[in-house]
Formats: sequence, structure tokens, C-alpha cells
Amino acid sequence: MSRLIVEGLHKLDGETAIHGAKNSVLPVLAATLLAEGESEITNCPRLSDVRATASILRHLGCEVSTEGDVVTVNPAGLCRSDIPDHLMREMRSSIVFLGAIAARTGEAQLSFPGGCELGPRPINLHLSALRRLGLEIEEERGRLNCRTGGRRLRGAAVTLEQPSVGATENLLLASVTAEGTTSIINAAREPEVVDLCRYLNACGAQITGAGESTITVEGVERLNSCRHRVLPDRIETVTYLAAAAATGGRVTLTHTDPTLISSVLPAFEEAGCRLDWAENSRRLTLTAPDRLKRITSVLTMPYPGFPTDAQAPVMAMTCVAEGTSVFIETIFDSRYRHVDELARLGAHIKVEGRVAVVEGVPELSGAQVECTDLRGGAALVIAALAADGETEITALRHLDRGYDRLEEGLARLGARIRRMD
Ligand code: EPZ
Repeated sequence: MSRLIVEGLHKLDGETAIHGAKNSVLPVLAATLLAEGESEITNCPRLSDVRATASILRHLGCEVSTEGDVVTVNPAGLCRSDIPDHLMREMRSSIVFLGAIAARTGEAQLSFPGGCELGPRPINLHLSALRRLGLEIEEERGRLNCRTGGRRLRGAAVTLEQPSVGATENLLLASVTAEGTTSIINAAREPEVVDLCRYLNACGAQITGAGESTITVEGVERLNSCRHRVLPDRIETVTYLAAAAATGGRVTLTHTDPTLISSVLPAFEEAGCRLDWAENSRRLTLTAPDRLKRITSVLTMPYPGFPTDAQAPVMAMTCVAEGTSVFIETIFDSRYRHVDELARLGAHIKVEGRVAVVEGVPELSGAQVECTDLRGGAALVIAALAADGETEITALRHLDRGYDRLEEGLARLGARIRRMD
């Protein structure tokens, strides 16, 4: 089983490029099912979740090829409408295929996505929304058997109880070729949702209001494939910024976009970091102080609020800040599983329900730790970089789902980090 070996207390210094966004490439690849012809998706990160998505597309009969950061999909050979259990279990976000498969084939069979490390991951909003468009969904023995009854899905006004990213994306994929108009009220506003709409509109969809709370979709007869560049990964950006901040370093990130993380940048500034954005060369530079100051409070919220995915990486840097920082996690029920592992490195964190109180310490100490989930794993890497001595990090499968060669990027910035197989 591979593991990362990190020797801490080396300031990060230098420049590295940010990859395409995991949470955009996954729904965009699912959307290629709906477009006639060969779609070319560029700036794709090399992730196990992307490979799992490609496996689902191939299982369905699509032609998929990957060349560097370009994934090409042609759904002409589409001949199935089911997602095998093992692929659903491998990646719970496969649920976003439901709307696309049903819209394209008139039916879909897939299992309930397993829960994940963040606690239960219900899909009630997905199912109730898709039923509003006329999809008949039977739930039995953990399987979803869906059909449109031979009719096109029909547009409807759908209000989401909460601005679910996945449910918004499923609705978009089901409605772009439906008959009539769909309004998605209380839609997710995340940049990855906007990126999906950008791809779909480039294929000929008629979507307005992307990024706002109400999205309107005029159904069209057909979509034609196109070339799409995935937007930068805002959570990878935050992860590298937090690593630089935790080590007192100075790092420049290219191929990113600071407007995607405008709700996070004030936290870095409150911690004493200087942020410079060179518009012309599109380079974001963070210069950290020798010792970070605490962050008074971080409240995770749906976009444009502070992203829940940034909570763990930012918490890691506050472990060595001066003073006490408070985190309130409002999106997921169980998103503090990294806290016990950070404590093994010497962090002082107290969790009470949705609140985590981090009392900064001057230094952490290397230890053996295990990734608990994707962003929790990133937090361990960041903390290890700020720890005295050597840290061994295992269960890297969590990291590899969502970070493209993280250790190579950090090593490029001067981190003493290597992967041992
Ligand atoms: C997406 O997950 C992201 N994943 C998550 O990123 C991200 O944390 C999350 O959005 C919030 O921004 C992908 O895009 C692949 P939600 P998703 O539906 O769509 C509840 C990462 O680390 N809910 O917006 O599953 C749900 O339980 C991952 O990159 C229902 O109750 O998130 C959660 O509490 C982790 N019923 C809240 O809504 C539903 O039917 C937000 O979930 C759906 C969701």
C-alpha cells in the first residue's frame, strides 16, 4: 500500500500550475452522453475519479480516449443504461449520470450510491426533482429502476429544498433535451455548475441564469458535441495556498482564478498572508508571515460562501497559528474526521457537533497518520509540512481521488515529500 513520507519544516517557495477542477470534469464527462459526436474535454486532471467516470462511459458503450489532460468521448455506441454496483460504490458522485442516462436512453438502472466518509449522502433531492420531470423511479433493494415510459422528459418548475450541487447538475442534464421549460429554483451556484452549463450551452443547450439561484432551461431536440476546457480547481488552489501559509513560504500558482475563491481569500489575509494577483500573467502569489495569526471564524456555506471542501485544508494551517480559530461546518454531518489524525501530529482541536475550536500551537511533530477522506487527507499533508520531523501518511486512495500528483506539485515547491509504494 503506497504512503507519503514527509519531512516537515521546509518553507515552500516557487511556482506550480493548478489543474482542472475535479468537481467540474465529472459532471461534464457525464454530459458528453447527451451530445452527438465526439466531445473533447481539455484541462482534465489525472484522478482516480476521472478514470472511474471513463469506466462508466465505456461500460455504457461510449468510446473514451485519454491523451494527457485531454479526454475525448463519443457516445455513438451507447448501448446500455445501467451503472454496475462496483462502479457506483467506487464513486458516489456517479449519481450525476442518472439524469443524463435517463434523458438519452429513456431508462436508467443504478444502485444507491454508498454513504461516504462525510457521513450519509442522501439523494432524495435528486429523485424528487427528476420525478418532477416525469422520470418514473422505483427504489427496491438498494437499486433505482428508472424509466420515462417512452416519452421525452418534460420541463417543470422545480424548487430544491437546499441548493444541492449534485441535484442541480442532475436536473440540468435531464432537462436540456426535455420538452418545454425547466426552472430550477434555489439552484446551486457553484462555479462547477456554471462550467457544466457553459459546456452544455456550447453544445446547443438553452440555459440561462447559471450561477444564480434560479436557472432556466429551454429544452432542445439535440445537442452537438464540442471542445471544452475545464475551469481551474478552486479547492486545489486553496490547498496549495494553505500549504504555503502553513510553512511560512512564498508560492505562486498559475492556471488558476482567484475570483473562484473570493470567500476564502479574506481568511488567508486575516492569518497574515499577503496575496498578489497579476491579472496579465494570471499568477496568484501568497507570501506567508513567519507565524500565522488565528482565523476568528470560518462558517462553511453553499457558494458563494466559504466552501466546505476548503474547511479541512484551512483548518490544518490554523493548527500552527497564534491564537484560537473556530470552524462551523454547516454542509456535511461528519466532516471533522481529520481532526483525530491532526491531533496525532500534536494539534489542539476540540469538536462540539458542527463546531471545531483550534488552539494554535507553535509547532507540530511528525507521526504516522491515515487519510480519512479526500480533503481530510489534504489537511494531513499540509500539517505534515509544518511538523518537526518525519510524517508517514497512508490510505492515499482518498487523496488520489481528487488531487493530481499532489506530492509532485509540493516537491516542485521545495517540500521534502515522496511517495513510497
Ligand atoms: C458536491 O457534492 C461536491 N462533489 C462535494 O465535493 C462538495 O463538498 C459538495 O458538492 C458541496 O459543495 C462533487 O461535485 C463531485 P450537495 P454533492 O448535493 O453534490 C445534502 C469534494 O471533496 N443533500 O451539494 O454530493 C447533502 O447530504 C467533494 O470534492 C441531501 O440532503 O453535495 C449535504 O449535506 C466532497 N439530499 C448537502 O445537501 C440530496 O439529495 C450538500 O450536498 C442531496 C444532497
